[in-house]
Amino acid sequence: MNKQLETWVKEVAAMTQPDAVVWCDGSPAEYDRMLHLMEQSGTAIRLNEAKRPHSIYVRSDPADVARVEEFTFICSKSKDDAGPTNNWKDPEETKALLTPLFTGSMKGRTMYVIPYSMGPIGSPIAKIGVELSDSPYVVASMHVMARVGTKVLEALGDGEFVRGLHSVGAPLESPTQQDSPWPCNAKTKYICHFPETREIWSYGSGYGGNALLGKKCHALRIASVQARDEGWLAEHMLILGITNPKGEKIYVAAAFPSACGKTNLAMLQPTIPGWKVETVGDDIAWMKFGPDGRLYAINPEAGFFGVAPGTSDKSNFNAMKSIEKNAIFTNCGLTPDKDIWWEEMSDTPPAELTDWLRRPWTPASGRKASHPNARFCVPASQCPVISSEWQNPAGVPISAILFGGRRATVMPLVNEALSWQHGTFLGSIMSSETTAAAAGAVGALRFDPFAMLPFCGYHMGDYFGHWLKVGAKADGAKLPRIFYVNWFRKSAEGKFLWPGYGENSRVLKWVFERVTGTATAVDTPIGRLPAPGALDTNGLKVDAAAMEELTKVDVDGWTAQLAEFKKHYEKFGDKLPQGLKDELASLEKRLQGAGAKV
Ligand code: OXD
Ligand code: MN
Repeated sequence: MNKQLETWVKEVAAMTQPDAVVWCDGSPAEYDRMLHLMEQSGTAIRLNEAKRPHSIYVRSDPADVARVEEFTFICSKSKDDAGPTNNWKDPEETKALLTPLFTGSMKGRTMYVIPYSMGPIGSPIAKIGVELSDSPYVVASMHVMARVGTKVLEALGDGEFVRGLHSVGAPLESPTQQDSPWPCNAKTKYICHFPETREIWSYGSGYGGNALLGKKCHALRIASVQARDEGWLAEHMLILGITNPKGEKIYVAAAFPSACGKTNLAMLQPTIPGWKVETVGDDIAWMKFGPDGRLYAINPEAGFFGVAPGTSDKSNFNAMKSIEKNAIFTNCGLTPDKDIWWEEMSDTPPAELTDWLRRPWTPASGRKASHPNARFCVPASQCPVISSEWQNPAGVPISAILFGGRRATVMPLVNEALSWQHGTFLGSIMSSETTAAAAGAVGALRFDPFAMLPFCGYHMGDYFGHWLKVGAKADGAKLPRIFYVNWFRKSAEGKFLWPGYGENSRVLKWVFERVTGTATAVDTPIGRLPAPGALDTNGLKVDAAAMEELTKVDVDGWTAQLAEFKKHYEKFGDKLPQGLKDELASLEKRLQGAGAKV
């Protein structure tokens, strides 16, 4: 037994005062016990065994439906280390503030000790954490999303681990108090990270990234700090393998903000004949240089926690196959025969169902049956196109990195960076229209550098610098090429210009052929765009005018954005690396050369 772990568990139990402490072994029997507990407490409904075997349906409290960015804090010793894009709190003051909240917060509940490994156990890139939680929903979800239990404790030995303390913040004060079906604290939520001591304290929410601490809190916010300190990259990226008709394969990592289609791209069914895509991960990539000087990535997770609405056989056939069994569904609709439904799952909605707010619903109700951030949670192994390499402890070699977001205007379909530094610049100016994955307005344009805005555990200016350093230290010829893509361009009439989904394979093909040296590009002021004819449009139903719009440089649009980029950069003060200032100045010059009035 790890002595530090034993001591910490005792200390936390003394503070939170649970009725019992259970050490999770990670077994299938334990998973089933959690499902039963949730059924008994009214948290979950067992779905129709014939239609959706071994699966449950859960509805959260309407006050607990998404990540709460305004209550998410980086509690580094110095405020400057959290930087301008994070909420900061002093670590000691935060613990003093949260200790009274955690004191007695698990009364009437069980505290589960969940040892987990992010990444295949024993992989040199994997890391271990332990989450203490009073939520059976969290235990079950962690079984799916990470490797958990005794085997992790064995691998940990007396080594270091990330400490994650989680409470739904809803103590049961007396033995006769009725529990709520979704215990949480509707008023008070804090998701706090202590990067120097590798700790997480999460209070008041039981949902997703707020509560499954291995995911955003550990694998991104804490891990980004570890990666900075140790010289690797912890990124909000999917990982896929793509094989051409000759059987040659490359791996691609891609960063998009939350709910911008990472899961769809990771599981894409190519529309171009003979090409194959395989999934390694859909949300997070940890990347380290291998002995051969190439960048290798693992998916630290073991499951998919995907946005449900919009997922269908048309948009993501492989996700629909992945969720046929052994799944946890949260905040979608429930059909009368105890199956699930969400918007766009089928062309014809069920005639009636119960919505995520437990109300009767029909297609005529005029409101959505599922919450826009409803989720499915399933083991990655159930994906029909899961890569045979997805659990390779050494990771997969990355040949290309894509950045992208939802942009109705300006950003072309695909643009290859001129260099690693220019690619870092493109990552730093990533922007996207906001989605329902986080609480707040939907559709507003915000800069989301590297899709890490809500997930970078330290000063974003230093993070940019880390990317430049990683590139400068590497053998340039072995670094992945960087591309900026945008599937979301719209016409003046507000219609999508690009069909997206499986047709995105055409862009992946160009990326593949740029990496292997067979596709042509033209140098433009913003980067390298596909040369005429280089993008495979065989059989594509997009008219020539739309294609022209998608693949040209909008010099005026980019020029108009320069002022926005400058304002965005001002936030980072003297932490903004010189390399990025140089890139911005060069872009401005190149745009001027193209006839723009700057
Ligand atoms: C997610 C997110 O859940 O980014 O992956 O919000
Ligand atoms: Mn994500």
